[in-house]
Amino acid sequence: MNQLPLPIAQLLYLIAAICFILSLKGLSSPQTARLGNTLGMCGMGVAVAVSLSLSRRYEYAALAIALGGGVGVVVAKNIKMTALPQLVAAFHSLVGAAAVLISWVTLCSPQLLQTSKLGCQMRIEIGIEAFIGAITFAGSVLAFCKLQGLGKKLSLPKPNIVNGVLGAVCLFLLMLFSLSNFDTLFWFVVPLSLALGVCLVIPIGGSDMPVVVSLLNSYSGWATAATGFTLGNYLLIITGAIVGSSGAILSYIMCKNMNRSIFKVIFGQMEHSQLSITAKNEKSATVGTPEDAAFLLANASTVIIVPGYGMAVAQAQRAVCEVAELLRKRETKVRYAIHPVAGRMPGHMNVLLAEANVPYEDVFELDDINGDFALTDVTLVVGANDVTNPAADNDPQSPIFGMPILRVENSKTVLFIKRSLGVGYAGVDNDLFYRANTMMIIGDAKKVCEGLVKELSRLG
Ligand code: TAP
Repeated sequence: MNQLPLPIAQLLYLIAAICFILSLKGLSSPQTARLGNTLGMCGMGVAVAVSLSLSRRYEYAALAIALGGGVGVVVAKNIKMTALPQLVAAFHSLVGAAAVLISWVTLCSPQLLQTSKLGCQMRIEIGIEAFIGAITFAGSVLAFCKLQGLGKKLSLPKPNIVNGVLGAVCLFLLMLFSLSNFDTLFWFVVPLSLALGVCLVIPIGGSDMPVVVSLLNSYSGWATAATGFTLGNYLLIITGAIVGSSGAILSYIMCKNMNRSIFKVIFGQMEHSQLSITAKNEKSATVGTPEDAAFLLANASTVIIVPGYGMAVAQAQRAVCEVAELLRKRETKVRYAIHPVAGRMPGHMNVLLAEANVPYEDVFELDDINGDFALTDVTLVVGANDVTNPAADNDPQSPIFGMPILRVENSKTVLFIKRSLGVGYAGVDNDLFYRANTMMIIGDAKKVCEGLVKELSRLG
């Protein structure tokens, strides 16, 4: 196969980049998400084909595609949806590692870029690529471990000072590396940047982890863009910039939704969020059966269903949807309320409800439905905890303090379906379990919801 002429390759890269942009646009709405996915795949197909044609090292490319593709298929088939944040963090670490490796190869073999000596501009690009790549790699590996429940106890004294000093030293070394021909400096920049990546993520934990993952997503985009500059590849520059900026925007939106300072997350200063506060609660909770819950639901005129992480674990979305359908048949007004960080990834609950064919118009965001809880007879909370916890409002010591919550307690009756009175992701006790208008239905969400379906069908 002949190598593609460069102008045609550039044109095809541009078409691939346009596909990626349109794909993102498509993914912004459930109705167009499928088309968005298809466009993204087409863009990626074109990008891979053009890169192959330009490289002409088909044997290496075939090996890489077979290995990477094989691992990808196995992972995609086996990954649980609740483990997606870990997977995303692991993917980001690969992007960071690739950036560091490419910068290293370029430094050792400038002839690959048709030059015998690296100029200042090249050295700046290589330095930045290695710097961002190493931070992304180390930060993502630690984020992966934390999301897997490992390394949660790590702590960093005075994180703002440590991170500030490390960052300043890295930038100083980067400047020296760019302005001199002293290649050994590269080997100081990389380990220090790795250390910085770790130190930036150590202080963050609990409910702030989603923001870190999205921030690392943004870093991986900037690392890709830097690689694009080094290799003179426009597609990498464009896609890197898209990922970098969309990740940054998502981080900002998530910080706003959780009432966090984006700067504190970026600079690793969320010391308090490592805390796990579980009150020694002496109060008692009212515990009911699925039959009790079905009776209350059957006699309600308005019901709001609040899904959370437990619904995802139990894969209870279809049973939940059946409960809603049976209630509708009784002329009950049923809606779903989704908190922006319910579950373990952005849009987690929306995806599950869409999978169960819940109509989009029945699903409401926090701001659109929060005022309606006070007018609601029964709120059915299925495996959600932190996103309903009033400690976010009234306990300044709580790791979730400041996060907006769904005000389920304002409804006449709150039914919580979960397996115990235990804590959620942030490790905070939820006072709502012990309120007079709350009934706990203890059990696996799917089994309890199937019990509700049975009982509601029996009630007719
Ligand atoms: P959580 O606060 O984590 O609570 C989930 C609850 O589900 C737990 O208390 C657990 O209680 C229950 N549960 C687990 N398995 C269950 C099962 N099989 N059946 C029934 N219940 C089950 O969830 P949430 O309210 O959705 O809040 C999400 C939390 O995760 C927030 O703190 C958020 O910041 C964080 N987070 C979010 C994301 C994104 S982007 N969405 C990513 C990472 C972290 P039992 O053990 O008693 O059953």
